[in-house]
Amino acid sequence: MTAEVISGKELAAQKREEMKQEVIKLKQEGTTPGLAVILIGNNPASRSYVKAKQKACEDIGVHSVLIEMEDTISEQQLVKEIYALNEDDSIHGILVQLPLPNHIQEQAVIEAIVPEKDVDGFHPINIGKMMIGEETFLPCTPFGIVEMIKSKGIKMAGKHVVVIGRSNIVGKPVGQLLLNEHATVTYCHSRTNDMKSITQQADILVVAVGKANFIGAEYIKKDAVVIDVGVNRLDTGKLCGDVKYEEAKEVASFITPVPGGVGPMTITMLLHNTIEAAKRHA
Ligand code: GUN
Repeated sequence: MTAEVISGKELAAQKREEMKQEVIKLKQEGTTPGLAVILIGNNPASRSYVKAKQKACEDIGVHSVLIEMEDTISEQQLVKEIYALNEDDSIHGILVQLPLPNHIQEQAVIEAIVPEKDVDGFHPINIGKMMIGEETFLPCTPFGIVEMIKSKGIKMAGKHVVVIGRSNIVGKPVGQLLLNEHATVTYCHSRTNDMKSITQQADILVVAVGKANFIGAEYIKKDAVVIDVGVNRLDTGKLCGDVKYEEAKEVASFITPVPGGVGPMTITMLLHNTIEAAKRHA
């Protein structure tokens, strides 16, 4: 049996339709949700993500502002811009597209955003709240992954989840969110010994390493749920995930495609967080 596809594209479209109605209601009550996106430099992938985020805002009626800055900007100038947005009542969410140029300290920039406007869920206060299970802005990619798993009625409690990758943006928080859902969580990363013997035990395998076609069928237990977070551009210009999709789908019970999987859900959860921020502010 071939795996059932978990279409992030379809789930995202459904959720965005509901959000559209929510935004109409908020506007009637006098609040237009607003998102400020700061893009620094000319990284083509960042530019394309930011464009997609802006279009998604426009589609559901969220006000979005793009602030572009040269990659020679100082950390101080960037932080000053963030402080101004912190004070701006028309802006409910602030997102600084990562990665940043090397001379800017990412953590200092993240911490300059007030936690109430941190719709990426990257501020230490919000990460701390997530860890202890308090309601807060959840990081968008991990949040989207949990929503995708839930959408298929897949139970997480008691399951062995293996996460490959330990980034602050995806790996670490997705493990934490799945732990909050009562899964048993193991992390693998570049220093893990005999990774295959661990991933073969996974009921749910989350792959977030950023290497094209890194995980083949031999890493996957029969009927596992495979979540592919990778977005890698091949020399041919084609996008592909971290998982060898064609062979993985012959072993897995559910699988997310690339493109059309986790990506659209990340943006959808950003919209969700922005609307939530506007509601809390109203
Ligand atoms: N770069 C890659 N993913 C993300 C994300 O979710 N948020 C931000 N701000 N930058 C990113």
